[in-house]
Amino acid sequence: MMNALGLAFLCLLLWPEATEAQFPRVCCTVEGIVSKQCCPALGSDAANVCGSLSGRGSCSAVRVDNKPWGGPYRLRNVDDRERWPTKFFNQTCRCTGNFAGYDCGQCKFGWTGPNCDQKKAPVVRKNIHSLTPEELREFLDVLDLAKTTTHPDYVIATQHWLGLLGPNGTEPQFANISIYDFFVWQHYYSVRDTLLGPGRPFKAIDFSHKGPAFITWHRYHLLSLERELQRLTSNENFGIPYWNFATGQNECDVCTDSLLGGRNPDNPSLVSDQSRFSRWGVVCDSLDEYNRLVTLCNGTREGSIQRGIMERGNVSLPTMTDVRSCLGMKDFDSPPYFTNSSFSFRNALEGYEKPDGELDEAVSNLHNLVHSMVNGTSALSHSAANDPIFLVLHAFTDAIFDEWMRRFVPSNATFPDEMAPIGHNRDYNMVPFFPPITNEEIYMQMEGRLCLRWAPLWGESSSVSWRFSLSLCSTCVNGEIEALNL
Ligand SMILES: *[C@@H]1O[C@H](CO)[C@@H](O)[C@H](O)[C@H]1NC(C)=O
Ligand SMILES: *[C@@H]1O[C@H](CO)[C@@H](O)[C@H](O)[C@H]1NC(C)=O
Ligand SMILES: *[C@@H]1O[C@H](CO)[C@@H](O)[C@H](O)[C@H]1NC(C)=O
Ligand SMILES: *[C@@H]1O[C@H](CO)[C@@H](O)[C@H](O)[C@H]1NC(C)=O
Ligand SMILES: *[C@@H]1O[C@H](CO)[C@@H](O)[C@H](O)[C@H]1NC(C)=O
Ligand SMILES: *[C@@H]1O[C@H](CO)[C@@H](O)[C@H](O)[C@H]1NC(C)=O
Ligand SMILES: *[C@@H]1O[C@H](CO)[C@@H](O)[C@H](O)[C@H]1NC(C)=O
Ligand SMILES: *[C@@H]1O[C@H](CO)[C@@H](O)[C@H](O)[C@H]1NC(C)=O
Repeated sequence: MMNALGLAFLCLLLWPEATEAQFPRVCCTVEGIVSKQCCPALGSDAANVCGSLSGRGSCSAVRVDNKPWGGPYRLRNVDDRERWPTKFFNQTCRCTGNFAGYDCGQCKFGWTGPNCDQKKAPVVRKNIHSLTPEELREFLDVLDLAKTTTHPDYVIATQHWLGLLGPNGTEPQFANISIYDFFVWQHYYSVRDTLLGPGRPFKAIDFSHKGPAFITWHRYHLLSLERELQRLTSNENFGIPYWNFATGQNECDVCTDSLLGGRNPDNPSLVSDQSRFSRWGVVCDSLDEYNRLVTLCNGTREGSIQRGIMERGNVSLPTMTDVRSCLGMKDFDSPPYFTNSSFSFRNALEGYEKPDGELDEAVSNLHNLVHSMVNGTSALSHSAANDPIFLVLHAFTDAIFDEWMRRFVPSNATFPDEMAPIGHNRDYNMVPFFPPITNEEIYMQMEGRLCLRWAPLWGESSSVSWRFSLSLCSTCVNGEIEALNL
């Protein structure tokens, strides 16, 4: 028991948190952009920069990864995501102890209270099919609220970085956006093309897929939204549920009106109007238009969520055998750390190689297969996060990653520190999260946060992580913990 609790504390202590993304509204002024400094004062005393007067943090130079990268992007200095975030800001708050956030006004994950010195109860991610009616309502309602509530702290850039202050250099080109759409925008921004000129996009670039950062990026993305949803529900233990998509079926069992929306009988590519999600607008869908206009997604509504039919008979969702098989791969990734990596756990989970690690050009499995089976909006990487299925799909993908971490207990060094595609090296600051956070900082096991009970752990009473997991999961309602048969 001591051991389990000790580990729990250790995990919470080590966990970095509370950086969200794009830029804080308070820094998006002409002075802020020109000085490249984003070190706001905490509270009303202007001298309290980064909470320095109470020892919370200080204004520091941003550290960037200087190791060589591989992959198809070989251009230099034409993309604002290179050396992130220094094309925008080169000084940010660095917080000490349990403090976090762009002004050191928040607590690191796992801590709460005015001085961030009280331990927070665990966040439990449950199977969406096992939520009580109240939990399900809380989840769906908070999504609606996030879709319509303006993000309290962050704004999005709406223009190419060279035009960020407008034609006269006096008007910062930023817009407000809702909390949910901000989440969509972050995903779009990480996968969008390099804007080389009107109708001249460079497409072979992706900061969050097709490389090792796929795993760390999506984990952090989900954690940031989860934190915002916790704020909105005033439930600091709210967890995003997961969808066990490894059913091997050719139907989407979360696509029902009581969950994430059934099919519209009049137009099968739309969500049923019995579901609240039929009223959700999508943003950031018109990639070709942004490329033509050399601009960024500005968050305006561009239509409704689209879904596919899923009736191609002979194509099915992944199976538990696929999950088991990718969990057997001992290497996190393998050169060239790209879509053609073989025997790479990351590439198998992402879905560009077979679950057993064999490379086959035609293959689409696990994560990729689920996106393509749901199809429509979910199949377009720049737009996929518009569909709330994205949340539950990635909560499960993250759970598989965590189980892999538990099994292999990899050192940081197993995450490539150089020659991964741009954005994917271990010390690269994940784009576009802000303040900066590297891939390495998120490459760790967090099993206790996911209320998953993995079957092979039964009987392995010597497994510390098993006890650790159970101690954190004790808040789950009895019988609602899913035993995955791995
Ligand atoms: C940060 O950017 C400012 C404005 O461009 C520049 O004057 C300064 O030298 C930069 N500092 C560092 C540490 O790169
Ligand atoms: C930019 O400056 C020009 C000339 O001073 C002025 O006519 C124009 O209205 C300004 N444009 C904006 C967007 O402020
Ligand atoms: C965003 O909204 C806030 C109030 O919620 C307002 O003060 C601010 O001017 C808006 N910013 C932009 C860029 O529209
Ligand atoms: C936002 O972007 C859309 C599509 O690119 C464009 O049609 C619209 O004019 C833009 N809105 C603003 C306020 O810039
Ligand atoms: C499914 O059917 C299509 C056409 O009938 C065929 O081309 C494809 O190879 C089949 N896929 C599998 C996985 O059997
Ligand atoms: C992987 O793909 C890249 C880009 O298509 C190519 O340059 C490289 O030679 C491939 N590497 C291997 C090992 O297949
Ligand atoms: C997704 O939809 C496209 C266009 O409707 C279709 O061609 C494709 O086969 C669908 N993919 C799957 C996996 O069903
Ligand atoms: C591994 O990463 C963690 C988190 O960034 C860091 O605290 C630790 O020092 C790293 N270990 C090594 C050996 O680099």
